[in-house]
Amino acid sequence: MALGARFPHSPREERFEFTPENRAELDRILAKYPQKRSALIPALHLAQKQAGHITSAVMQHVASLFELSPMDVWGVVSFYTMLKTKPVGKHHFMVCDNLSCALLGAAGILRHLERRLGCRAGHTRADGKFSVERVECLGACGGAPCLQINEDYFEHVTPALVDELVAALEKGEPVSPVGADEAAPPREGAGAAREKAAG
Ligand code: FES
Repeated sequence: MALGARFPHSPREERFEFTPENRAELDRILAKYPQKRSALIPALHLAQKQAGHITSAVMQHVASLFELSPMDVWGVVSFYTMLKTKPVGKHHFMVCDNLSCALLGAAGILRHLERRLGCRAGHTRADGKFSVERVECLGACGGAPCLQINEDYFEHVTPALVDELVAALEKGEPVSPVGADEAAPPREGAGAAREKAAG
């Protein structure tokens, strides 16, 4: 648990319950694990997808389903940075600035993204559409520099790819993940990778 992290207490917060669809999805997740507690992180991801971020009401609901205390759940939530305890933008950019990515230009990518979005790391743009965060290693060092948008990974990121991604998302168009085996520099951008993936 991060030092100084406190259980987020919000007395006026609305109750949280999984929707019937997500409750069914949770049952499918639980069936994969011999121990219920092993499904805690996938359950929290599911709750985050539904609620946008992990609130105290979310933790209390998940704790009751897993027969844990809210503090047990908070211990997990406060450890993993991919579990958000504050609202983020509809498209949340996470830029890795650990060693491999730093050596291959992560700082420049982050600066370019901040300028392109008009949104500094650690903040959400006023329209709520985008937010930016610097994160620790995303486990995709072989594709450095890399970033993640919500649940999708983008590797070998260039300023040109950042421009393409932002332009598409601004227009409400979907973007496809770009993996290490799909794109290596020099590359032609997200569109080219998508065409390649489509064969
Ligand atoms: S250092 Fe960036 S993904 Fe590992």
